[in-house]
Amino acid sequence: MDKKEMDKIREEIKCFQAKTYEDLELFRIKFFGKKKGILTIFFKKLKEIPYKKRKNLGIIINELKKNVQDKIRYYQKINLIKNKTILKFDPTIPGKSIEIGSLHPISIVINRIIDIFKMIGFSYVEGPEIENDWHNFTALNIPIDHPSREMQDTFFLYKNPDILLRTHTSSVQIRYMKKHKPPFRVLSIGKVYRNETISSRSNFMFHQAEGFYIDKKVSFLDLKKIIQYLINSLFGESVKIRFRPSYFPFTEPSAEVDLYDKTGWVEVMGCGMIDPQVLKNVHINSETYSGFAFGMGVERLALLIYKINDIRIYFDNDIRFLKQFQSDFFY
Ligand code: PHE
Repeated sequence: MDKKEMDKIREEIKCFQAKTYEDLELFRIKFFGKKKGILTIFFKKLKEIPYKKRKNLGIIINELKKNVQDKIRYYQKINLIKNKTILKFDPTIPGKSIEIGSLHPISIVINRIIDIFKMIGFSYVEGPEIENDWHNFTALNIPIDHPSREMQDTFFLYKNPDILLRTHTSSVQIRYMKKHKPPFRVLSIGKVYRNETISSRSNFMFHQAEGFYIDKKVSFLDLKKIIQYLINSLFGESVKIRFRPSYFPFTEPSAEVDLYDKTGWVEVMGCGMIDPQVLKNVHINSETYSGFAFGMGVERLALLIYKINDIRIYFDNDIRFLKQFQSDFFY
């Protein structure tokens, strides 16, 4: 790598002319080839040279590299051969930077809820969105003529009313309890569907997070503590909540949880002690075991967390809205 050699190479680059695509490609390989490229070898050797000498040589070699690149670009631009592009792909051009996307606000809240429950030993499972009547209703103590079926206006698939889009994630409780022996604590999150008019507060599809916990001697106090822990983890210590008596066919007693949000109380979830009949339906001994369950709408929680006032905006796919959310927002 002496001066004479460098001058010779510089001259060679300067004089090079391409007539065809192949000429140019051979020229490129001669200098940049992975193993035997002249400049590739120079750059490798450069590393072995003592630091002091390296600097000047480095400048010269970089200059040669630029000369070769300029030559290649020149011939690519002038398109020497009629109707033929010289190089379809130029590996020497620096790449354009790609804009990195961000998580959807609903995904951020879902991930956060999963983290919160993992910390207290809940496992996470998912169930199918297409269900049959038994898992979605009957096993949950909602027989065919039960009025509460009307509260969850159902999308049926096919003409067969046995196959439907699940109206809540409580069906996952049934699937899990059928297969596992207590004790267990489980969280499940996913899409649910109800034939509701779309408005700022409701949609025909939304996400539910469902939790259930079965063991010996589980009490309503355990339920309250867990809900309090969840809400504090999501909204901070100063948030106010209340439990209001309610009714669900699969829990007894049942409650609804409201959260105070400046202008008043907002309902955020349903919960209760799992009805012994439900445990019997999945062959769990209701004398020995008891448990609680709760279910909440993720969109509704996200409205409160991010101070959004219209649920429809989540699925408008407006990039200006979606770009604004950061995963580390939480307390
Ligand atoms: N499945 C109920 C609903 O969708 C919510 C719920 C879950 C209530 C678990 C109590 C216990 O409305």
